[in-house]
Amino acid sequence: MAFEQKRIGIFDSGIGGFSIWKELIKELSGHQFFYISDVPNSPYGNKSSQFIRQRAEVLSNELLKEKVDIILLACNTATAEAIDGLRDKFNVPFVGIEPFVKSIESLDLGENNIRPVVLTTRAMHDSVRFKELILKFDKDKILTPHACDNLASLIEVAYKKGLDSVEKEIEEELKPLRDKNYTHAILGCTHYPLISDKIARYLNVECISPCLPVSKRVAYILKAGPIDSRTELYFKTSNQENFETFSPALLSLK
Ligand code: DGL
Repeated sequence: MAFEQKRIGIFDSGIGGFSIWKELIKELSGHQFFYISDVPNSPYGNKSSQFIRQRAEVLSNELLKEKVDIILLACNTATAEAIDGLRDKFNVPFVGIEPFVKSIESLDLGENNIRPVVLTTRAMHDSVRFKELILKFDKDKILTPHACDNLASLIEVAYKKGLDSVEKEIEEELKPLRDKNYTHAILGCTHYPLISDKIARYLNVECISPCLPVSKRVAYILKAGPIDSRTELYFKTSNQENFETFSPALLSLK
């Protein structure tokens, strides 16, 4: 079946959404993608709910000017604070991303010593939505929630200057989690999968991220799949007027 070409809007406080974008362009190759990074206002993790909601509205309006068919909040923090309001206000489907707490259902809890930690931003950690998520899926209370105050910002620097430039600071940030015998790290901020190899090695854990299922959800809602056309990627930061063509090679850290 041939699918119609779709226009897919994405935003995040910065480059975190690249972790989903990488999956999305495989699920929906041949479609058009518009990504706004709100890096002048990042990190969202230490901002108020009101500020994040207001930014989410501004960015959604920007994407709607591009006549997008769907908007992906490629940001856990913005999803927690803003997605309900956006759905009420705008007449376009929204897909969000949340810490993949539900994934513990598929861990073999029969096995001894499963100790998952959920890494999130501070705002996510403190949000009502996160607390509800944990109450709903962590019935056996095996999860440890942990807020990483600086990790998303450090990953922004890693993108510009290379991972080597901030590796020590990243280790400092993760140090309190070392030697706690965690077995899994649920990555509850879209920035974190960009350094999942580093997190896995440093904490000696298996990392879990929802990027793939979220991409599949976008395709499902759009009722679309790959099409035989050139994938078009457009990117801008929120202080730029126009989108620019973006190279897929830039989706990963140096
Ligand atoms: N990437 C975002 C998230 O998934 C936000 C990181 C931040 O700006 O603090 O939560």
